Amino acid sequence: MLTQNELKQNVAQAAVEYVLPFLTPDTILGVGTGSTVDIFIDCLGPHRSRFRGAVSSSERSSARMAALGIQVFDLNDVQGMPFYIDGADEIDHGFSMIKGGGGALTREKIVASVADQFVCIVDESKRVDCLGTFPLPVEVIPMARESVSRQLAQLGGKPALRTDFVTDNDCQILNVSGLAISDPSQMEARINNIPGVVSCGLFAIAGADVVLVSTQDGVLRME
Ligand code: 5RP
Repeated sequence: MLTQNELKQNVAQAAVEYVLPFLTPDTILGVGTGSTVDIFIDCLGPHRSRFRGAVSSSERSSARMAALGIQVFDLNDVQGMPFYIDGADEIDHGFSMIKGGGGALTREKIVASVADQFVCIVDESKRVDCLGTFPLPVEVIPMARESVSRQLAQLGGKPALRTDFVTDNDCQILNVSGLAISDPSQMEARINNIPGVVSCGLFAIAGADVVLVSTQDGVLRME
């Protein structure tokens, strides 16, 4: 029986093997954030001479890549990228996701929006029939924390401030439990529309394009 960490190791390695054939000396990769991505970065490190560098979705991933000699680029200096590789907290059968467990949701959404293909790397525990068991992270401008909370409560959610946490954008995170997310794209649009919301952890309007799922029987690729 593989442990969750071994499952993450396998999917991280599979993601490297998935992108390797497409890498050229000009390629910039988009790289997400989290424990699965940490392992992906470690697996990618030995191949750093095969591509130009990466754009990162967090200070955490930037530091890890820099330590391995992978050049980290500012998104403003990059025109595009073939792949954005990232984990998820939940992913449904339509490839909509909840992300932001690591608090990097806003930069993740920005970098992913520039990539041709979102490659989601998860272990099988992240696959769900319906999103919402994992509390939905919503990044907010601090002065709007309470007003946004009231509007999230009107949508049926129970927002709780993520304590002792400030995002890379100097904002705060509300973890919202209890939402009935029957239509993820519609919920994403409604939450995005609340003044003071920087971004919400639903990735449904633009979900994953390819999903690598690590199971006890190997890594499955779905697209
Ligand atoms: C960070 C994220 C991560 O992708 C998500 O939390 C999954 O992390 P992990 O690979 O550690 O399970 O969205 O903001």
